Amino acid sequence: MQPKRLVISSRVFSVVDSGGHKPILFVHGFPLDHTMWIHQWEAFHADYRVIIPDLAGFGGSAPAKETMTMADYADDLARIYDELGIQEPVIMVGLSMGGYILLEFLQRFKDRVQGVVFCDSRAANDSAEVAKARQILANEVQSEGTQKLVQTMIPKLFSATTQKLAPEKIADTRLAMQRATPSGIAAAARGMAVRRDFRPFLAEFNLPACLICGEDDVITPPAEMQSMADALPQATFHCIPQAGHMAPLEAPAATNEILHEFFRDL
Ligand code: MLT
Repeated sequence: MQPKRLVISSRVFSVVDSGGHKPILFVHGFPLDHTMWIHQWEAFHADYRVIIPDLAGFGGSAPAKETMTMADYADDLARIYDELGIQEPVIMVGLSMGGYILLEFLQRFKDRVQGVVFCDSRAANDSAEVAKARQILANEVQSEGTQKLVQTMIPKLFSATTQKLAPEKIADTRLAMQRATPSGIAAAARGMAVRRDFRPFLAEFNLPACLICGEDDVITPPAEMQSMADALPQATFHCIPQAGHMAPLEAPAATNEILHEFFRDL
């Protein structure tokens, strides 16, 4: 899974692009990078054109501005499609913040999407309290670095089962967080704090959708994803046992079986 370097309007993006036909784009969560999708790349890159960008300020992609709204990231994805010469509608998969970005992408470029997968994500925006905490976090990360964020966030991402049986996944995730730039993390935190509430728009997203959630996800719990699925006109909901917020990384076999079926039927 070797990313390539794209320069788009003088900005550097690091993007995995396996080549081949039928594009599927995977969007990582906060504050991670393309490596969280390793098991999906392994499972699908031989049969599909698997595209996995690092969002601005994460992995190998350069930070962009002080606040990156979800719409800014969605616009970046559209630019990456253009740069890669992708004309046809794409299947899009997003985890958590990646899902927030997919909602904006759908709102802006619906004709460029064939089907959508939300993993461990939500349609609601932040409460005033959460939004305020994000602003504080953004300032803290920029003045003090990312160590505290990494320490507090890691235990919330994984189920007890993963923490016990797969410490290497936790170590890899920690490394991905450490690769993110403080300014990239701060910009994303500020952008999430001002994102809009998509619940009123879900009924308009009339395209095939698949929702996947780890049963032990404490950040975006299954009940919240179930209600998101209920509000989408063409959605199925899947709950993955023994997985937390990082279901595609924690339970790749179960996740990939669901994805395989969804991709095949589109
Ligand atoms: C993520 O995994 O992208 C974050 O948990 C999203 C969030 O903080 O809302």
